[in-house]
Amino acid sequence: MPMKDNQQLDALVTAVTAAAKYRHISPDLIRRVGERELAARPNLKTAVKAAKNKLHQIGGAYFEAKLDYAAMLQQLKSAADSPDSFRQTCHDLMRRHASTRERLPILADFYTILADLPDIRVVMDIACGLNPLTSPWFPFAQPVEYIAYDIYADMIAFIGAYLQLAGMNGRASVRDVISRPPTEPADLILILKTLPVLEQAEKGAASRLLDALNGRYLLITFPAQSLGGRGKGMVQTYESQFYAWADGRNWQIERFEFSTELAFLVKTPLAGQ
Ligand SMILES: C[S@@+](CC[C@H](N)C(=O)[O-])C[C@H]1O[C@@H](n2cnc3c(N)ncnc32)[C@H](O)[C@@H]1O
Repeated sequence: MPMKDNQQLDALVTAVTAAAKYRHISPDLIRRVGERELAARPNLKTAVKAAKNKLHQIGGAYFEAKLDYAAMLQQLKSAADSPDSFRQTCHDLMRRHASTRERLPILADFYTILADLPDIRVVMDIACGLNPLTSPWFPFAQPVEYIAYDIYADMIAFIGAYLQLAGMNGRASVRDVISRPPTEPADLILILKTLPVLEQAEKGAASRLLDALNGRYLLITFPAQSLGGRGKGMVQTYESQFYAWADGRNWQIERFEFSTELAFLVKTPLAGQ
């Protein structure tokens, strides 16, 4: 990249991260989104505005309010002695991110679709949000090794502390999975309501992620309703999109439709016959 463009990109990253709302987002992702917006917009000011808009759509829009992670962790710690209260606290805290909030009404059934999977030891959660807090509902034995990725440093620090508290041998890291798709082997990879978000950030990102992953099983889901609550035609649209991404990958696929989420359980060739 020419020096002048690099300086503009640095200026854009500085301007975006100056706003509290974007401060904790992975700098890799801000640079990546910023580079595209600088190329498409007439000047730095409009590129900064467009980059903020995009970052809101792919991350910020899922929070109704700023989360107090220290207080959330304290609530979990206070409940840690009783499995029932711990589970209830996880349930309550998941209301604070739209994506897990929509999963709460179906949570009791959701993971039953994983009940027959053999030898699940390593679970990877891509663009995890607060979903690791669903671990008390897992249908397989813990402790599981849990690898969680998302773009928010403050949320990821909270998830790391949660994994420890929940007794999992876990690792939560800030990672832009568009610039650095994870390649570590995992028994199960959760890609929950994430592929459309990555595609929104960058066309082709979903396919590139699927090319890179090394999971025996994948659970790939899509929202059955938008953030505003309307679901018209979404299931059909995402279903055709999913089958287009699945084409040529030699996957065995099972489909499940819940009221708020469309799910595909994929057995990849790495799981054997
Ligand atoms: C629709 S939410 C899904 C959250 C979680 N998977 C769930 O279903 O509860 C999309 C998530 O993607 C994360 N995200 C967006 N772009 C990302 C990227 N490039 N790399 C990693 N995570 C990303 C957001 O921060 C957000 O947590």
